[in-house]
Amino acid sequence: MVFKTHKSLTQHLLKYKNQQVGFVPTMGALHSGHLSLMERAMKDCDFLVVSIFVNPTQFDNASDLDKYPRTVDDDVALIYKSFGTKNCAIYTPSVDDVYKNQTVAKNYSYDGLEHVMEGANRPGHFNGVGTILEFLFTVVQPQRAYFGEKDFQQLQIVKKLVEKLKLNIKIIGCAIKREPHGLAMSSRNERLSKEARACASFIYNSLQKAKIHFKNNSINNTIKMVETLYDQQSLLKLEYFTITSEETLIPVQRKYHKHTYRAFIVAHIDGVRLIDNMRLS
Ligand code: PAF
Repeated sequence: MVFKTHKSLTQHLLKYKNQQVGFVPTMGALHSGHLSLMERAMKDCDFLVVSIFVNPTQFDNASDLDKYPRTVDDDVALIYKSFGTKNCAIYTPSVDDVYKNQTVAKNYSYDGLEHVMEGANRPGHFNGVGTILEFLFTVVQPQRAYFGEKDFQQLQIVKKLVEKLKLNIKIIGCAIKREPHGLAMSSRNERLSKEARACASFIYNSLQKAKIHFKNNSINNTIKMVETLYDQQSLLKLEYFTITSEETLIPVQRKYHKHTYRAFIVAHIDGVRLIDNMRLS
């Protein structure tokens, strides 16, 4: 069933109080990446809740918010086709249902995870994400919630949010789903022309090259190698490439023994901002 208000959803979910509820929050324009999160939730839990809501407070750029694809009818049809109607509820609220008449984000501290990368480049973004997720977690009260590793920084931040708010929700990160040529699946890919979509696989290729290079070279040298790759072509514009400790997300200068590192990248093509990441070691 589709619920347009949080009150009607809360009422419906009373029936599942003693069951395992799995939650997949989304902003719609669903693709196989989202479906893989839902599949996992269906496998682990008795009942699935999916939210579809383009959250205005997490956009720092009005035109990005305007351009975000909105395909709710197709999304609902896809969920029903994939999982049937019986064991899932879909929440598609209006901005008013979530924010009443104050569309503003609360302030959160995520112990520094918010100051780097997407946090530094998109001011207020993670306050918006925290605000909507605190609201959705309170309404849905799931035992488990599923997030893709494509937004790895978001995944770490959500874990921190749940810890700080002392919510009893297990946050589960799921592997990045990729298109055949390696481009990480994203709702934003819908905005790419066919040619740009093919070219954008360069992002995945550059991460793979970084992973190989990183084995025998320093962090700075790996970063330079990737920056040079982007300098040598004109289709994609690199916004940032950075290597961080996987746990703290703090950019690192040198390698330590037995430490896990992850590379993060943002590049633009066709006016679309694409992000990706890969574990290096
Ligand atoms: O990853 C997303 O699609 C959004 O940031 C989320 C988690 C649904 C919150 O709006």
